[in-house]
Amino acid sequence: MTARTTLISNIASLVTNDPSLGAGPLGTIPDAAVVIEDDRVAWAGPTSRAPATDSHHDAGGRTAVPGFVDSHSHLLFAGERGQEFADRMAGRHYTAGGIRTTVAATRAATGHQLARTLDRHLAEMLRQGTTTAETKSGYGLTVEDEARALKVAAERTEEVTFLGAHVVAPEFTEAPDRYVELVTGPMLDACAPHARWIDVFCEKGAFDGDQARAVLTAGRRRGLLPRIHANQLSYGPGVQLAVELGAASADHCTHLTDADVDALAQAAGGPEPTVATLLPGCEFSTRSRYPDARRLLDAGAVVALATDCNPGSSYTSSLPFCIALAVREMGMTPDEALWAATAGGAAALRRSDIGRLAPGTRADLVLLDAPSPLHLAYRPGVPLVTDVWRRGRHLIH
Ligand code: NIG
Ligand code: FE
Repeated sequence: MTARTTLISNIASLVTNDPSLGAGPLGTIPDAAVVIEDDRVAWAGPTSRAPATDSHHDAGGRTAVPGFVDSHSHLLFAGERGQEFADRMAGRHYTAGGIRTTVAATRAATGHQLARTLDRHLAEMLRQGTTTAETKSGYGLTVEDEARALKVAAERTEEVTFLGAHVVAPEFTEAPDRYVELVTGPMLDACAPHARWIDVFCEKGAFDGDQARAVLTAGRRRGLLPRIHANQLSYGPGVQLAVELGAASADHCTHLTDADVDALAQAAGGPEPTVATLLPGCEFSTRSRYPDARRLLDAGAVVALATDCNPGSSYTSSLPFCIALAVREMGMTPDEALWAATAGGAAALRRSDIGRLAPGTRADLVLLDAPSPLHLAYRPGVPLVTDVWRRGRHLIH
C-alpha cells in the first residue's frame, strides 16, 4: 500500500523556483525537506520544521530541483539520421531537407512502432529528470499520418502539438499553398481533437510569414494555442508574428534583430508572455551559431531551454546537457539555465502547476547526486540524476 504523505528530507539544497519560499530568484532552501501528498507537493521548507508524515525518504544530502520541463521535442518519428550528422561534422551544412528522409521512414512505420519509439524516448527523458515533455507531429504530413501520430502522443502526454506545417509535403512541392489549405482544412479537422497546440516552421524553404499566420490563426479558430519555430536558420518574421498573435513561445530565436528582441521583451511584461525558447542541442548538432541568451535576458525577455529532440537537428533528450551548453556557450548563469529548463519550460507551456516545488504544485521532483544545482553545468555529461518523482510517484531510484 502506498502512503498518502511522504517526507523527503536531508536535502542539501532545494530549488523551489518560488522566491517566497527561499533565497534568491530560485527560492533555494538549504538543509530542506519536501512533503508529497498523493500527486502534489504539500509542504516545502527547512528540515527542522518538517511535519510528521506516513513515510519517509532520506535524500542523503543530495540536491533537489523541480522536474525538468522539456517544452519542445519531435518524438513522433521512425528511423534515424546518424549519417547526416556525420556528413555535417565533415563540413556539410544543415538544411531542413533532411526532414523528408524522416517523413518517408515515419509513413512506412506502423502505429505500434511509433508508440514504442515515443515510449523509449520519454523513458530516456525521465531517467534524465524530465517529468513533462511536449512533443510534436510533423513527420507524417498527410491527414492520416499526422492524426495517427498525435493520437499516439495524446495517450502519453498532455502537451501535444500539431505541426502539419513542418515542411511542405513532398506531394505538394509544386503547390505549397494547396498544402497550406490541406493543413488548415482537413488535416486540422482530423488533428485538433488530439492536440493542445499548433506550431509552424516559419523559415525559408518551409513556410513564409503569411503562410505561418494562416496556419496559426486557423489552429486558433479550432481551439489550439499557437507556438512557432521562428528565426532558426535565418532572420525572418517568425518572432514578430509570435508576439503579435500572443503565442506561448517563439522557439529557436537564433537570428534576432534588435526589434525582435524588443518585441519579446515587451511581451514579457504582460500576464502571458511569449517565451523565447532556446534549443542549444540544435546548434551543437548542426555546428552553428548559438542563440544569444544573454542579450534576451538583459533585455527582459522570458527564456526557456528545451532539447528539440529529433533525429535530424538535435538528437539529444537531455536537458542537463542543454543547461551545460547554455551556460558555456550562450551567456546564461547556472541559475538562469536551471530556471529556464524548469519554470521557463512551464511558462512556455502556460503551466503554473509544474516547474516549481511549492504547496499545491505537482510533485515532480529530481534528486541530483551533487551538493548544489551548479553541478548541472559544472559536470557536463555526468549522470547526476539519481531519483525522479512524477506526480508523487517515485519512478526512478
Ligand atoms: O526544430 N526546424 C524544424 N524542425 C526541426 C528539425 C527537424 C529535422 O531536421 O528533422 C527543428 O530543428
Ligand atoms: Fe523543433
